[in-house]
Amino acid sequence: TRRSAASARRVARVSLVVRATADAVPKPKKPQQMLVYAPPHPLIKHWLALLRSEYTPPQMFRSACAELGRLLIYEAVRDFLPTIEQQVQTPLGAVADATLCDPTKPIKVVPILRAGLVLLEQAGQVMPFQETYHVGYVRDPKTLQATAYLNKLPAKVSPDDLFLITDPMLATGGTIVQVIEDIVSRGGKAENIRVVAVVVAPPALKKLADRFPGLKVYTAMIDEQVDERGYIIPGLGDAGDRAYGTP
Ligand code: URA
Repeated sequence: TRRSAASARRVARVSLVVRATADAVPKPKKPQQMLVYAPPHPLIKHWLALLRSEYTPPQMFRSACAELGRLLIYEAVRDFLPTIEQQVQTPLGAVADATLCDPTKPIKVVPILRAGLVLLEQAGQVMPFQETYHVGYVRDPKTLQATAYLNKLPAKVSPDDLFLITDPMLATGGTIVQVIEDIVSRGGKAENIRVVAVVVAPPALKKLADRFPGLKVYTAMIDEQVDERGYIIPGLGDAGDRAYGTP
């Protein structure tokens, strides 16, 4: 009948919408494999282009980086933020089913100083509940070895604790591997850790994939190479220096 054909069309349209929503959560090809996801979004490409340009001044660099961090964090927590189901009273005297972020399970965000801080600037506007644990590393320019000068990670970590680490540039992977190893040695699990970075390169990705299957990395771009000084090419230069105008 005409009515049942119309209802079948409605069902088909609805199931298309549902499928599109489910697809928005990226999955690795095999369950125990690291996922690297570069969301194909024009705004992400736009802010990355500003960061790459050598003519972008520090103030603009910082705000582009913060904006990119906001978009990448939004993607990274899509299937990560713990939620609770409640009911809320609307101004019309009606009751609506509601999903809210769980205030008892704040995401533990870990900015790697200096530049990771800029990526997190807008995180408080993306996630209603979060705790911040700063870590700071310096890289020896000759050996490219990273050494910690600040570590505010919690002494004890439960395997269920959710971590979001921000570091704009994953080049050789030396620093990020140390931070994740530290979280895991305190009791954390790689599957409960997400990394947000602006640009990543194959050496870092290989190290992370070998050591931490189950990890998820969200980035604007995978670049091709790292030069002998540890810079990503084409990259965007030294993210910390550019964000803070350090000569
Ligand atoms: N850190 C940076 O700031 N830039 C790079 O290209 C690599 C590491």
